[in-house]
Amino acid sequence: MPKSPSEEQILVRQSGPLSGSVVVPGAKNSALKLMAATLLADGDYTITNTPHIADVPIMATLLEALGVVVDSSRMDQGILRITNSGSITPVAPYELVEKIRASINVLGPLLGRFGEVRVAMPGGDDFGSRPIDMHLAGLEAMGATFTFAHGDVIGVCERLHGAEITLEFPSVGATENILTAAVFAKGTTVLDNAAREPEITDLATMLVSMGADIEGIGSGTLVIHGVEVGKLHSADHRVVPDRVQAATYMSAVGVAGGEVKVIDAIGEHMDMLLKRFTDMGMRITPTEDGVIAEASGRLKSIDVATLPYPGIATDYKPLIVTMLSVADGVGIVTENLYPGRFRYVEELQRLGADIRTDGHHAVVRGRESLSGAPVRAPDIRAGAALVVAGLVAKGTTVIHDIHHIDRGYEDLVGRLRSIGADIERI
Ligand code: UD1
Repeated sequence: MPKSPSEEQILVRQSGPLSGSVVVPGAKNSALKLMAATLLADGDYTITNTPHIADVPIMATLLEALGVVVDSSRMDQGILRITNSGSITPVAPYELVEKIRASINVLGPLLGRFGEVRVAMPGGDDFGSRPIDMHLAGLEAMGATFTFAHGDVIGVCERLHGAEITLEFPSVGATENILTAAVFAKGTTVLDNAAREPEITDLATMLVSMGADIEGIGSGTLVIHGVEVGKLHSADHRVVPDRVQAATYMSAVGVAGGEVKVIDAIGEHMDMLLKRFTDMGMRITPTEDGVIAEASGRLKSIDVATLPYPGIATDYKPLIVTMLSVADGVGIVTENLYPGRFRYVEELQRLGADIRTDGHHAVVRGRESLSGAPVRAPDIRAGAALVVAGLVAKGTTVIHDIHHIDRGYEDLVGRLRSIGADIERI
């Protein structure tokens, strides 16, 4: 009997130097949100450069439960066809919502378009608490009211109205939900301290091609002039390349050495991280169609703090901690977004890494090398970081629970093997 994906493991042996090129697929954190945005208008959508990852069919199932038709037959080419014929039931059930955090992104479009929504409270990666108070406060300022029952949040409104909203913190999810609701609000919404991640720019760009009127895209102030409900139309869109997957291949070069071109990586979207890679001793060269990452010898330790974009993303952090665990010196990593996001450290310690954590901080004392061991992937990004750690661990590292990695990485094993890593999926 074939093994279920959850029983599969990734086996990595010490490897390097790496060489060649890898192509980065579209971003998970954009594709899932673009899919949710198709709830806003009837018609046919073609989303290209969609990553072949497990979260996409989960989001597709959720959209289908709401009444949208998703055709994944060309997903081998990254093409997703979505048809919204208008018969939508604005109720997102728990069984589907709890699997991925991005499912909360149906809240804004459903409320803005239909004036009613019922969504189970979201799940996703299990690090720290992930409240949605800022999403709800923003939508309330636009005229919605919310109640809670049986684990669901239930929202109602007449047509939403424009409002001046300042987020306490530039939350990615709150920015997206307020933006996708405001496109249909009566009047103008000014969203201050909005998140500026490239994936939000990608979403706003698709909304504009659907007929939305949005100013300030890419900045911390989004100005949304609402259009009449029903005035948006479908559009085609290409998903922005995934900066976290790109960073993963660069960090692999960082620990294993070599020279790899990460095709389609957009240097501008990773500016701060690339500077820090350079501080660690890597050579980073942005080109027209990607970024070349080079490393030889041991990396140098640095201190890093995670911050909202354009700062160092929290999603890069497990990769950085892995790099520091074999760098020369001591590095302090400060997590400013999710207090609970150091769980993978215990797994890196099993590989011999010298890391101490205290609240928001990790102190990483670099070792010459790590030593292979069985480990578990606790979430998507930490799982990928353990794979990267395996490249610099003597002997064999076996990563279990790799279904987490499959949620966000398209063929991580095949791509790493293509640049010379000794890695297989068993
Ligand atoms: C998204 C990304 C995730 C990334 C994160 C930060 C998706 C599916 N996930 O998550 O990979 O790590 O951005 O870059 O795109 N917060 C509140 N109240 C709210 C909303 C957020 O307190 O209403 C807090 C969160 O608990 C967290 C911080 O704000 O501490 C950041 O959250 P947010 O930016 O909203 O991240 P997500 O959209 O959940």
